[in-house]
Amino acid sequence: VKECACRLTDSAFAAETFTLRETSSAKHTNGKVLIIAGSSSPSSSMTGAAILATRAAIACGAGYVCVSLPEGMATALHIAAPSATVIGRNVDDIIEKAAWADSILIGCGMGRAPETIDLITKLCESPEISNTKLVLDADALYAIASSARERRSRTFFDAILTPHAGEFSRLSGYSAHDIRENPLDIIRSYSAEQQINLLLKGNPTLIANPSGKILINQSGTEALATAGTGDLLSGMIAAISAKGPDTWNAAAAAAWFHGRAGDLANDISSLVSSEDVLTAIPDAIAEIFFA
Ligand code: APR
Ligand code: MG
Repeated sequence: VKECACRLTDSAFAAETFTLRETSSAKHTNGKVLIIAGSSSPSSSMTGAAILATRAAIACGAGYVCVSLPEGMATALHIAAPSATVIGRNVDDIIEKAAWADSILIGCGMGRAPETIDLITKLCESPEISNTKLVLDADALYAIASSARERRSRTFFDAILTPHAGEFSRLSGYSAHDIRENPLDIIRSYSAEQQINLLLKGNPTLIANPSGKILINQSGTEALATAGTGDLLSGMIAAISAKGPDTWNAAAAAAWFHGRAGDLANDISSLVSSEDVLTAIPDAIAEIFFA
């Protein structure tokens, strides 16, 4: 590609970006991740999105994961991920925990209720959150797209947006057709304009930073085309960035491992589920470091 400033991810890139636990490490040095996800209402609930993101962060070696959940969801999360701790949806409690975290993920399965959009908007404006590594996915992207229309300004220390094409279209105003035809130029200019890292999901997945560089990830296939794999990816980015790399590099390494986990799961079952991909994450990591 002409003057693309692009690099393909590969196992060497993943190996140099991902860090295994060091001999002298402790849980608080192996990445403290705060995940704000999930929703529950009488008509609809998305507990699974929070669980998948949490378990993916744990599978990537996070030393400590704390999850903010709406009332009534804690038991389900404790059963699915006993090592994670849970806090509620009180904005002050979340902000206090943000000061502790090395990275924060907001958005998976939170829903689009007005009070949720309001919470996400407030969180993104608090310095404890905007000055921490931040992954914004799914309903957080929806909230950002809504607040962008109100022309609220945001400045982040090191944040990444992780939309699929539909979410990116809503965020940026580019049509699905334009995004499909000219993704590299579009994500490069959006990332520079907004001064934020951007991972555009797909085959391949493209990861842009504001300086114009793009990492391209080609691991993974349509085996990943099933509900919940995006939640796994955002949990993985949060865990990998918590240990040091910026969210742009961490996202590309996460995309690599996520794709490989999909490939490995597909070797076992030709009808891969998100749960299968989750199980394969440690194998995708082991493949690089212990093969
Ligand atoms: N080839 C390669 N990778 C693919 C393919 C494919 N054909 N199809 C999907 N993927 C990968 C994407 O690149 C991405 O990493 O699977 C993942 C799918 O992520 P999402 O689209 O975010 O899917 P999902 O986990 O279901 O999202 C959960 O968030 O985005 C919202 O509306 C979505 O509410 C839903 C929730
Ligand atoms: Mg998604």
